[in-house]
Amino acid sequence: MSEAVEQDLKQLFGEASTIEPLTDEDRMGRRVGGVDLSRPLSPEQAAFIVSLLDEFNLVSFASQDKNGMDVHDLERVANHFGAPIPHPYNYANYADYVKTRAALVQHPIESRTSTAVNQAFPGVIECIPGADSPAVYIVTNLVGSGPEAEPLHVGGQHWHTDIEFQPVPLSTSMFYVQRAPANRNSDEGTWVTNPPREEGFYHPDSPEGLAELRERLPLNGETAYADTAAAYLAFNDDERQMLDAIMVRRRLKVDDPGWLIPLVHTNPRTGRKSLHSPVWASRGKRIAPAEIDGMSPDESRRFLDRLEEQCLQPEFRYDHPHTPGDVTIWSNFATLHDAPPNLRVVNDPGDARLLYRISCKGDVAYQLPRNDNPAWIEENIVPPYVTATV
Ligand SMILES: [Fe+2]
Repeated sequence: MSEAVEQDLKQLFGEASTIEPLTDEDRMGRRVGGVDLSRPLSPEQAAFIVSLLDEFNLVSFASQDKNGMDVHDLERVANHFGAPIPHPYNYANYADYVKTRAALVQHPIESRTSTAVNQAFPGVIECIPGADSPAVYIVTNLVGSGPEAEPLHVGGQHWHTDIEFQPVPLSTSMFYVQRAPANRNSDEGTWVTNPPREEGFYHPDSPEGLAELRERLPLNGETAYADTAAAYLAFNDDERQMLDAIMVRRRLKVDDPGWLIPLVHTNPRTGRKSLHSPVWASRGKRIAPAEIDGMSPDESRRFLDRLEEQCLQPEFRYDHPHTPGDVTIWSNFATLHDAPPNLRVVNDPGDARLLYRISCKGDVAYQLPRNDNPAWIEENIVPPYVTATV
């Protein structure tokens, strides 16, 4: 750890605060101890935390449950990194809003995800305050779960970047972990196994090496990450120059005209470059594949497969274990990630996953409340949402 970073941390958060690499000194990810995110951050503290993410791509803050942190606090932290975006699932009438701009209404209490979570193992697992904010997406396997439920085992997702397909993509996502699976159910001593893929999950012409790299997924409920800043840096000067000039067409549906976004993201604060979501079909059939400006769909796929293969090399990969009480923040511009093989329905609380995710975009703000231009919010935060209090 660079001594300057450690000194700044201790100066801003006290002598007891600590920072350590999650794996090796020269790789992505840091774990921070002794920092209390349940308390508002000073502008200097907020700027420092943003700078940690700029440098290390993923930063995990341990033991926030011991500080009494709740999900409102997570939303306040998120406001420093960008404008939180609400999740359409949280609204009862999102489809009407899209068609007619009807006023948005949240689901009534009885049909919220938090209620389904609370019904799985009553008295054992209950969502913490703030879970019902429209900005929060509850990542859990507790919906439909309970002592009598039949467990459902599912494979990992595609490698992707959260909501890379909008004109202003997400900059940052974060998890606050309430539950992570403690059980080890398989003969191999892991929580789950990696079930075989159904036909067509990946394009049949994917190179064999890439197919194998994609499937190296963690089996204890960790989130799999790949460092796209390190992967970019590992190309030679000529290759980087070629990559710098490439524009990618992003779109939600195949027949959308979409828009062009640079393949290489330049961090506005540090100038550091990274590949932004260099994956051809990052959401399988759900989101239209990316196209490289000036290439045919097949050429685009082959080109992006080569970049995905680079990013998924073992030296750029990191599997992040979730520990209850952790707040883990990651850059969507400098990483790819993949949700692991999972039990989607469980009948034992020891298999429960319960994480609160907030994602945000736009400028960082060291001082709160944020001061976003309402026209920018209207255009880029869909559905429009602003954190009520911070
Ligand atoms: Fe994701």
